Amino acid sequence: MSQFESLAGKRVVLGVSGGIAAYKAIEVMRRLVDAGAHVVPVLTEGSLNFVGKTTFDALGSEPAQMDLFSQAGPTASPIPHTKLGQTADVVVVAPATARVISDYRTGRSADLLTATLVATAAPVVIAPAMHTEMWEHPAIEENLAVLAERGVVVVPAEQGRLAGGDIGKGRLAAPATIVATIDAVVAGVHGTMAGQNVLVTAGGTREALDPVRYIGNRSSGKQGYAIAAEAAARGANVTLLSTVERDVPAGVEVISVTTAAELEKEVLARTPGVDVLVMAAAVADFRPISVAQGKLKKVAGVPDVKLEQTNDILASVGASRRPDQMIVGFAAETSDLASNAAGKLSRKGVDVMVANDVSAPQVGFGHDTNEVLILTANGDEQHVPLANKAQIARAVLAQVVAVQAKRL
Ligand code: CTP
Repeated sequence: MSQFESLAGKRVVLGVSGGIAAYKAIEVMRRLVDAGAHVVPVLTEGSLNFVGKTTFDALGSEPAQMDLFSQAGPTASPIPHTKLGQTADVVVVAPATARVISDYRTGRSADLLTATLVATAAPVVIAPAMHTEMWEHPAIEENLAVLAERGVVVVPAEQGRLAGGDIGKGRLAAPATIVATIDAVVAGVHGTMAGQNVLVTAGGTREALDPVRYIGNRSSGKQGYAIAAEAAARGANVTLLSTVERDVPAGVEVISVTTAAELEKEVLARTPGVDVLVMAAAVADFRPISVAQGKLKKVAGVPDVKLEQTNDILASVGASRRPDQMIVGFAAETSDLASNAAGKLSRKGVDVMVANDVSAPQVGFGHDTNEVLILTANGDEQHVPLANKAQIARAVLAQVVAVQAKRL
């Protein structure tokens, strides 16, 4: 099951223009094909200075196209740019050079790629890549701003190593980021949380017994990370408070925490500034009253560990929250899923409760998949059958956006 289910069966025109980052387009294509998309590579003459057409012929879903006027083969079209533009579900340009961006902005269609861009009514995603001086040139800034105003989705260039060893802004966004953006565009969720501040918690807290041991739980953080990635793909500014180290989703700021008390401090300090809080973390309900200074030794016999209750972070937030905020909780249950989750929803004062039966196979802690029941304070109930955690994240944030829309 691909993480990007929305891409399955979709026709993607992948334009590649002539920059050193063209080699990364191969990785973008590979990921799109792996997700089940039908990828039609369209190369500019310039791209062939950096990559070979054969690579795209071999790895794309059909041979790469370059020629504005003639095509070879039985399915050849006399006007390939209109055919490509009309049949595409999305047109992507990665990397997009200064030349392609400028031609697209003015409507100058001098080759198959720019002609397809001008001829299509499908959504367009462009991922620019160029040297810092060019990236910062007012002409490029203006061209990108105009394209964005017209609805073109721009995947911003990143900071990093550029051609010739220079370091600066202008490096092509990571292939994973580009593919996540294309997926969000195809799914129709791109930009649906634009500008919102979202705080997500992920992983299980660890409560120290002594300098080497802790009481923890089986949470892997996968669901929280997937929520953070989905919120970022929807255009939110995302901060993730995490107890675990995983690959950081593009555009997400991660802050490390360990204990329930540390998590509580960060959540309470940050919540006033957020539009949405998603408490996906598995927070310890109990912690040792005291932490041994030195390692607990066997010779001292079985330790008498006394526990105390931690504060319920979600309930504190629920009690002090502003009505315009969206508070999302998770409920890990092993029985009576719906009634236990409904009880937690009202007790903790949250807007959306995502309940999972963590005793079911392939569900919850540690797995790549989950099956959830999403309850809202409005009384809506949605069952999401077993799916990967990215799809669950999409369903959860769809509910958040739906509840926000009802409030307007
Ligand atoms: N939670 C929290 N602070 C705690 C415990 C839980 O903020 N000290 C949050 C979790 O992040 C989750 C929600 O509360 O979003 C529900 O957590 P869960 O463990 O399912 O419920 P508990 O409140 O611990 O209730 P119970 O022990 O009865 O299952």
